[in-house]
Amino acid sequence: MTKGKVDALLGIVFGDEGKGKVVDFFTPRYDVVARFAGGPNAGHTIIFDGKKFVLRSIPSGIFDEGKTNIIGNGCVIAPDLFMAEARELEAAGYDIAPRLHISRRAHLILPTHRVLDRAYEAAKGKNKVGTTGKGIGPAYSDKAARVGLRVGDIEENFEEKYRALKERHEQILRDLHYTDYDIAEEEKLWMEGVEYMRRFKLSNTEAEINRALTEGKSVLAEGAQGSLLDIDHGTYPFVSSSSTTAGGVCTGLGVAPNTIDRVFGIFKAYSTRVGSGPFPVELFDETGETLRRIGHEYGAVTGRNRRCGWIDLVALKYAIMINGVTDLVMMKGDVLDEFETIKVCTAYKKGDEVVTEMPYDTEGYEAVYEELPGWQTPLTEIREEKDFPPAFSAYIAYLEKQLAVRISIVSVGPDREATIIR
Ligand code: IMP
Repeated sequence: MTKGKVDALLGIVFGDEGKGKVVDFFTPRYDVVARFAGGPNAGHTIIFDGKKFVLRSIPSGIFDEGKTNIIGNGCVIAPDLFMAEARELEAAGYDIAPRLHISRRAHLILPTHRVLDRAYEAAKGKNKVGTTGKGIGPAYSDKAARVGLRVGDIEENFEEKYRALKERHEQILRDLHYTDYDIAEEEKLWMEGVEYMRRFKLSNTEAEINRALTEGKSVLAEGAQGSLLDIDHGTYPFVSSSSTTAGGVCTGLGVAPNTIDRVFGIFKAYSTRVGSGPFPVELFDETGETLRRIGHEYGAVTGRNRRCGWIDLVALKYAIMINGVTDLVMMKGDVLDEFETIKVCTAYKKGDEVVTEMPYDTEGYEAVYEELPGWQTPLTEIREEKDFPPAFSAYIAYLEKQLAVRISIVSVGPDREATIIR
């Protein structure tokens, strides 16, 4: 953390790396915590003092009275879901309105965006993306098509603008012959959400963040999803619709590239993916099932089973390159405790072709593995690096050598204390 600079905390694979756990560790060090991309497709589970919260749109610095939290211009926001999320925090005693500022340039997710999300998925047949159904893709599509509604739009003639966009959506839905939906109740709640949002500071957050930087404050850009779900650099078309990588910090908050200092890349000691799309390391056998069971790999938003596999160095090297990762954070090392042998994917192969660089499309590639000995010792109670079993230290050293970036933080269990700084 450097005063007057932005650090980014990014999931660098397919999301669900466990950002929720480490933000709790990171946020106290920063003055401003800002979300720069995505929306309620995210689910950051935060557990402290025996309480559990799942944050979707709200930044993780929200529990701390002294911090400014920002939902940046690169985000999309669903007023009804935002209201539900915010009210839950208020009910738990957090006075969040003074500490949460929302960019007027962030786009709104309408109820009809969610219907469109379902309609587009239905129309895709077997090529479904497996979206979270939160209307993310359609909202970002409208943004790119220059017809979207922004938070700032609620300040003037909103009803009219809303009706025009809704009618446009209804027409598309008719064209798709997708007419069996009823959003009456949802729409009521959504409008209530719009009213509720007015109590927050709707501001030009890019100016606010830059002012904070000039004043020497520190900013944490809190990522959502993961680098391989980035609209440009992910496994397109099986991606989300925002810029989840380090470049998205600049566009999604309005900060210049030279304000970025450290880029923390979070990854798990193994791999997971939710939704469709190629996943060369996916295990369909008992090992995959064991990883899912021990790692509790079920989606925070949708409850879906996550697809599981061994760690993927091809994907990690690519994500480190795209993001300029300066520090790695390895989560869930303890999930591998019981394995006799641990595999690491070092290349992909298709027929006779073997690649170590991320291909244009990973479909049809299989993983090539190296094997390392497992530690077969519980890690969860360990609090100092010197107590790591040698095979775990060797696994870390091997990854650092392969990835050429230091793993600065290692998490070995769900507790706050099970986080070792190196
Ligand atoms: P969407 O963001 O709802 O459009 O979903 C697009 C793809 O991204 C799907 O495969 C989702 O499962 C995946 N996805 C979206 N948000 C998350 C997340 O927070 N964690 C993991 N996967 C996500």
